Amino acid sequence: MSTTRVTTFDTLNARRRRNSGVVGHSGWREENPASPGRCSGPHVPRVTHRNLRNIRAGAGVGANMTTIGIIGAGHIGSQVARKAVELGYDVVISNSRGPETLAELVTELGPRARAATPAEAAAAGDFAVVTLPLKSYQDIPAEPLEGKIVIDTNNYYWERDGRIPALDAGEATTSGLLQKHLPTSKVAKGFNHIMAKEITSDGTPAGTVNRRALATASDYPEASELVAKLYDEFGFDTVNIGPLDESWRAERDRPAYVIRQNAAELKDNLAKATRTI
Ligand SMILES: NC(=O)c1ccc[n+]([C@@H]2O[C@H](COP(=O)([O-])OP(=O)(O)OC[C@H]3O[C@@H](n4cnc5c(N)ncnc54)[C@H](OP(=O)(O)O)[C@@H]3O)[C@@H](O)[C@H]2O)c1
Repeated sequence: MSTTRVTTFDTLNARRRRNSGVVGHSGWREENPASPGRCSGPHVPRVTHRNLRNIRAGAGVGANMTTIGIIGAGHIGSQVARKAVELGYDVVISNSRGPETLAELVTELGPRARAATPAEAAAAGDFAVVTLPLKSYQDIPAEPLEGKIVIDTNNYYWERDGRIPALDAGEATTSGLLQKHLPTSKVAKGFNHIMAKEITSDGTPAGTVNRRALATASDYPEASELVAKLYDEFGFDTVNIGPLDESWRAERDRPAYVIRQNAAELKDNLAKATRTI
């Protein structure tokens, strides 16, 4: 039985606590498939081996969940590809300059990987990982991602991406912008607050004491569940923040950003985050 720990955030309770100036944990729900029935928050599907298999088998998202389409082949994209291939996924990876520029990476990744255009990678993936600079998110092809789960690693660096007033004002989130750009996809935040090199070095088996935890958020429970499953396979526990409009909690300059933390510490850090910085 999986010992993946999934923690969800009760947004309403959190808002009440923020409004009352109290920071606490009563809004968090920690979910351990090894101990079903412990949960006290809103329903989020448990991540068990059986429903993980169902996700891979395509429950709600497709017939065969073994190929990951990766758009962006830089620090994060290449690291996600390395770990995914090690785990037995097939990957189709892409960048802005064309598949031929990825020959070296694809050779390193081996027979489970091939390079393609972003549209081809999106079409080939049973789900996708979008991992390019935020300023380029509107280049991501929407049509081949229709109905698919899209994991979004993006962060907002205005120095790189240019000023985006809705983000500066705390009126939007990076993943929310992507969800608007991909209205028929199911966007989930993932891998955005871990340094690229740690994706392949920091994972440990489920149940490891002090296992590192990563956050996710989505408006679609099946998308956050898929991220939790992938995190577990990559070696990380999950804290589910809730909907995308709360995903800012794990973003740049917030307490949870790119530090090593276990699930309890991550929950604390997410709760401490302030909306604008
Ligand atoms: N680096 C980290 O440790 C880290 C950690 C967490 C989150 N993030 C976030 O994750 C995202 C990716 O970061 P990164 O460090 O991996 O970036 P990166 O190393 O600069 O790589 C970006 C990749 O995106 C591709 N790309 C750029 N524009 C594109 C377009 N229009 N269409 C298709 N591909 C395009 C680039 O292709 P070309 O090279 O061909 O242009 C490159 O392969 C960013 O939002 C970043 O803030 C990064």
